[in-house]
Amino acid sequence: MIAEYPIARPRRLRRNQLLRDLVAETIIDVRKLIMPIFVKEGIASPEEIESMPGQYRWPLNDSLIKFIEECYEKDIRSFIIFGIPSRKDPLGSEAFSQDGIVQRCVKTLREVFDDKILIITDLCLCQYTDHGHCGILKVGRRGVYVDNDDTLKIYAKIAIAQAEAGADIVAPSGMMDGQVRAIREALDSAGYDDVLIMSYSVKYASSFYGPFREAAYSAPKIGDRKTYQMDPRNAYEALKEVELDLREGADIIMVKPALAYLDVIRLVKEKFPQVPLAAYNVSGEYSMVKAAARLGWIDEKMVMMEILTAIFRAGADMVITYHAREVAEVLR
Ligand code: PBG
Repeated sequence: MIAEYPIARPRRLRRNQLLRDLVAETIIDVRKLIMPIFVKEGIASPEEIESMPGQYRWPLNDSLIKFIEECYEKDIRSFIIFGIPSRKDPLGSEAFSQDGIVQRCVKTLREVFDDKILIITDLCLCQYTDHGHCGILKVGRRGVYVDNDDTLKIYAKIAIAQAEAGADIVAPSGMMDGQVRAIREALDSAGYDDVLIMSYSVKYASSFYGPFREAAYSAPKIGDRKTYQMDPRNAYEALKEVELDLREGADIIMVKPALAYLDVIRLVKEKFPQVPLAAYNVSGEYSMVKAAARLGWIDEKMVMMEILTAIFRAGADMVITYHAREVAEVLR
């Protein structure tokens, strides 16, 4: 005889909001959100980014300070800074010059906010080079290519300039081999051994970056980024990239984009549960939500929260998202 059990009632756990909250596996906390900031040289007032409604290119003045204060009041504590220089050249010199826009921005924010906020700096060349690539271009026996090791020397200079300005965390996003090691060595030898590296370890060659490139004028003028960013068809290759970055000294690793790569976030979290994992909810993911909401096709706030929940549920410990301020408002 098979014993008779009462029929299972999973619905008991869903009866009301209090029960659902009690048993929820995933809770979003504002302290886990990182707000991206675009700071542009040579403008006097904020410019709204057409393809990213609600996002701005900020001048380095009181308007930016006020915006960050508003975010602070909503409990956002972490910001990642992207610079838009007024001058580009083949080497991306403005990325490491002492009075480059990011360096000046970080210095100012540090003076105003002291240690009340975490300042992360994107470390790359694409906004700063006239050709728009994330590294130095050279001509070799097979034609034009992005030179890995010469680029590393420039990344090392950028890291030092950003640390000197007062960055807490530098975030290399150029996908050059050995970039974490080059940056770690540079930081340590310049006395910045307390500056963390958040590596864009697993960054795909994604079309979801379209609106960002419009926002930051950083699209490559020739070719594409497929010789350095990862092929979207590969998941297990992510484990190799992460392993190398960890050996080279990365403190925090990242998967980017987030929404179309939830499987990769889960895979990396399961294989490296001991390492803090960031995910980047990128520009195209943001713009799609905004566009559909404008057309009245989705409930914007609900979809936004569901996407963020999915990224955390997949295994991210922190999320870079343009929605940060709106999420903070919903959570209040
Ligand atoms: C710079 C960089 C990019 C993004 C972050 N850092 C653009 C790119 O790789 O082309 C994209 C962010 C976004 O789409 O929100 N290398």
